[in-house]
Amino acid sequence: MPVSWSIRESVGVIEIDNPPVNALGVGVPRAVIESLARAERDESVVAVVLIGGGRRVVAGADIRAFERGWPEREPSLRDMIDALERAHKPVVMAMGAHTLGGGLEFAMACRHRIAARDGVMAQPEVNIGIPPGAGGTQRLPRLAGMADAVEMIVFGEPMAAPRARRAGLIDRVSEGDLMEDAIAFAKEAAAAPVPAKPARARGIDAFDPALFDDAEKRAARRFRGRRAPLACIECLKAAARLPFEEGLEFERRRFAECVGSEQATALRHLFFAERRARKAREIDGDARAIEKALVIGAGTMGAGIAACLANAGVPVRVYDADPDALAAGLERIEARLAARGARASEPDAAAHRAPIEPANGLDAARAADIVIEAAFEDARVKRRIFADLARFGKAGAVLATNTSYLDVDEIAAAATGREADVVGMHFFSPADVMKLVEVVRTRDASPSTLATATSAARMLGKIPVIAANRFGFIGNRMYSAYRREATLMLGAGALPHHVDEAMTGFGFAMGPFAASDLAGIDIAWSMRRAFPPDARRRDFPIIERLYEAGRLGRKTARGYYRYDADRRTPHRDPEVERMIVKLRRETGAPRATPDGEAIRERLLYALVNAGAALLGEGVAQRAGDVDLVWVHGYGFPDWLGGPMHWADRVGLPRVLECVERYREHDDYWEPAPLLVELARRNATFKAWDEDGGAGA
Ligand code: 3HC
Repeated sequence: MPVSWSIRESVGVIEIDNPPVNALGVGVPRAVIESLARAERDESVVAVVLIGGGRRVVAGADIRAFERGWPEREPSLRDMIDALERAHKPVVMAMGAHTLGGGLEFAMACRHRIAARDGVMAQPEVNIGIPPGAGGTQRLPRLAGMADAVEMIVFGEPMAAPRARRAGLIDRVSEGDLMEDAIAFAKEAAAAPVPAKPARARGIDAFDPALFDDAEKRAARRFRGRRAPLACIECLKAAARLPFEEGLEFERRRFAECVGSEQATALRHLFFAERRARKAREIDGDARAIEKALVIGAGTMGAGIAACLANAGVPVRVYDADPDALAAGLERIEARLAARGARASEPDAAAHRAPIEPANGLDAARAADIVIEAAFEDARVKRRIFADLARFGKAGAVLATNTSYLDVDEIAAAATGREADVVGMHFFSPADVMKLVEVVRTRDASPSTLATATSAARMLGKIPVIAANRFGFIGNRMYSAYRREATLMLGAGALPHHVDEAMTGFGFAMGPFAASDLAGIDIAWSMRRAFPPDARRRDFPIIERLYEAGRLGRKTARGYYRYDADRRTPHRDPEVERMIVKLRRETGAPRATPDGEAIRERLLYALVNAGAALLGEGVAQRAGDVDLVWVHGYGFPDWLGGPMHWADRVGLPRVLECVERYREHDDYWEPAPLLVELARRNATFKAWDEDGGAGA
């Protein structure tokens, strides 16, 4: 039974017992309805408490049931909500750590609500591509007001219990034991019943209609290309305009349209991919505690990483061999933290922040549980640092190097005697914003080291993905194939803005050339030189020309584009276009001016083929991991689920057919054996993952 029933002090207690997160799967609504009927029948019961069992979490509808479908004869979440709303005896919903989605929706149908002091409630459905579907868009604005409903429903913002109390979403905050307080509340409600005024019978307080326009604008910026935020806004507008029942019906239709859509399917794929990545076999060790950290290097990356650690409450020291760089880096961190603090939705975020202090030497490693080295991308510099860390590092500390393409085994070898503690942690810039961290598994890294690095990344609010120590790891290896095709398009007759427009038209936040300008042409230049010669073979060497011309990207206000003084808005630059035309003549690049569709296909199939190649080699374990890397590190549109999910939807036989066609003119396009195998079987990367991925 997914629900347990007991009577305590004449209060019927219905405890949802569906571990690990009490999702409201098939069977739960029926069991709750039956327990409620029992409470109504039993004369010894004066009131009811509804509560999530175990961790006191109610995570909402069972997301897996959206794929499997709901059996027709089974009562639904909406039936359960109707029963709760119609109950004759007072029902108190006791809300623990998390009350989410459908959980909050049925809580709002109960007569009373009490939440634990550290409880959080949210309607996070928008994150998986749907509006709430069980009355949330109609009840929440009636209980908490339209302004808060917009933030919670359109943007998925959580609300903490004390705030929810002030907003009128809950009646009480429990300062002690949630169960005891809920039972006391239920007894009070039975003794002095308040006239029931369910959300459906309430009006919505006056609000500024400009709220919706503002939400539309913000949603378009934040969730570029996603449809669910707009569906949420439409449902909220319906709540303001229509009688309750009609509003519910409106919401039901929007929910049904979204839940089976490509976008929702893609976002659910990412939801589960993220959770699967946390359970990777490779991190099957015990994570060690992290109480103090040392960051080496106070440049942009080091400063960003230190800011993340401090924000996560880990006291951090920062060392830089250059005292001026150290002082400048610390200043930069403070400025960044202050700017973020001013924007933070939780005003007390700054109170949880741990201190950041300078360190005078590498011997500061003696006190750190994790050292993250973010010095120059130069193997010699890094090896020297790791040789010192082998001497100074605290026993059991994790020694991580932040590198985007250097050989981590070689760096680990310098840490004589400590090889098992060394791991790569490839952060993305800006480190305090980007959510991806590639955790690079070296030859000797122990499972416990990998588990600790992974859990440290999660502590920083990042999504860690394990990668093997091969050149470029997952992301940059694929990026090099993508970049190669992008520059070849220039050779073939396109200009940078044609390629960028083709890719932003697909859904990327930025095209490859604008992104290159942002990251710095010098970075792309040195990475290109470090790549094995094979990867450089037959690309269009425009990077060399830009670099030689001192066009390093936004930092010099000139790169593939020209920038205004604000260094933000790119403009076409005739000088670059002349360089491209000249280079085309010199290299004799084949001419067949590609259109947007041709550009997109080449760049995307290059990505998929490179992804399949590294999966086949075991560099990444699962196609879902590759998707996480591209969505969270390289701006691949999340509503398309990542390159491998996208390829599954296109159909692998079609992908292979194109790859084989490109190979006729360019032998660089060797089809990845895994792509060939899956396409021949008409299988998918998803099915391959489910069979165990690279570890099968
Ligand atoms: N449905 C199905 N499975 C769920 C789930 C859900 N709503 N929420 C979590 N899970 C699963 C996870 O996949 C994971 O499964 P696994 O052990 O097999 O990998 C397990 O529960 C534990 O989840 P986490 O690893 O995420 O555990 P955490 O402790 O880190 O976080 C949580 C717990 C805060 C509840 C987090 O899981 C979460 O945010 N869940 C999603 C909540 C959500 O999106 N709810 C809305 C659902 S849609 C809805 O309600 C529609 C309605 O309007 C009709």
